[in-house]
Amino acid sequence: MPIKFKHKLAEDTIEKSEIFKLSKWILKNDKLTLGSKTKNFQKKFSNFLKIKNSIFVNSGSSANLLIAQSLLESDYLNNKVVIAPALSWSTTVSPFIQLGYDVKLCDCSLENLGLDINHLEHLCKKYRPSLIVLVHVLGHSNDMDKILKICKKYKVRLVEDTCESLASKYNSKYLGTFGLASSFSFYYGHHISTIEGGMACTNDKNFAKIMASVRSHGWLRELQESEKRKILKKNKISEFQSKFSFYYSGFNIRSTEINSFLGLSQIKKIKKICKIRNRNFKVYKNELNEYFTVRCKTKPLSSFGYATLTRNRDKVYEHFLKKKIECRPIISGNIAKQIFWKKKYKKKLELPNSDLVHKFGIYLPNHANQTVNDTKLISKEFKKIAKVKLV
Ligand SMILES: Cc1ncc(COP(=O)(O)O)c(C=O)c1O
Repeated sequence: MPIKFKHKLAEDTIEKSEIFKLSKWILKNDKLTLGSKTKNFQKKFSNFLKIKNSIFVNSGSSANLLIAQSLLESDYLNNKVVIAPALSWSTTVSPFIQLGYDVKLCDCSLENLGLDINHLEHLCKKYRPSLIVLVHVLGHSNDMDKILKICKKYKVRLVEDTCESLASKYNSKYLGTFGLASSFSFYYGHHISTIEGGMACTNDKNFAKIMASVRSHGWLRELQESEKRKILKKNKISEFQSKFSFYYSGFNIRSTEINSFLGLSQIKKIKKICKIRNRNFKVYKNELNEYFTVRCKTKPLSSFGYATLTRNRDKVYEHFLKKKIECRPIISGNIAKQIFWKKKYKKKLELPNSDLVHKFGIYLPNHANQTVNDTKLISKEFKKIAKVKLV
């Protein structure tokens, strides 16, 4: 029997009234594959984020996969060396492994859970990568000033996995708008939800074009008319044949109008949700500051969960189960300690901060339906048992 938690890690942001409206709308529409709702959702998301292009896909993982493949189809990389965060998510790193990149893991910072700047610089010097991928973990920003400086110094492209950090900002700019491309997730429990769904965003028009095509089989259709004509002429392809002509090696990772319909109503709620998440984070910080001291310039913070480092993590987990409070490890911990990584790579890596997070990290619930009192109660139960892990 699954446990019925009183304090869930996350709750759905889709309300019954939205499902009701969706059901009525579906009955009136017979074509539910990618169309005007998706285009509208992409436009509204771009407007929100203040970014030029958004490509809606069926998950945040697919957004990462799309970016990784589109980079190979572009001429933006000099080599296939990519630096990726050890503290991340399986599908932040997996697409790069699947597509034959040479992945080097960077340790995390214990100040913001993003990339450790010293280690990043060391890896850039040693391996001369073409690409850095980062994750903004649980709503917290990486040190973007320093990372952008490193990108410039070593001429490296940047991809931001922003799946946990929608609506968080760094120096008045939304996370996910600093690099060449970024990914977002709209899975259950994320800041907004489209049931399943993700967005790949970019300010680069050419890269957006490649991503739109790679999302849909790699077909020519997504290209601008003039460019398409040139390609057809050069390759001696007839008008008829062009209907099924494929220019890039693509996937089908589109979503549907159903998900976009939900996205359009969800997007209106982002700011309100961010405010509540931020408020809850402040309550946690007040109550549990010694368990994890985040020092970064994320403002506003659209916190995903409250990260803690705890010496007796299993005891806390047991106590929480009794009290029906849900909690999780701090995402992957150290990816190099995950089974899929160890099966492939035998070499032991020195990633001390990520090891600490792997061994001692727990994050506590935060979502839009969580009240101040809920947050205080969770903190109280946590403090009864948890022993601080000092670093
Ligand atoms: C950092 C990060 N990247 C990618 C993903 C994958 O997103 P999705 O579940 O939409 O595939 C997640 C999921 O939680 C995540 O936390």
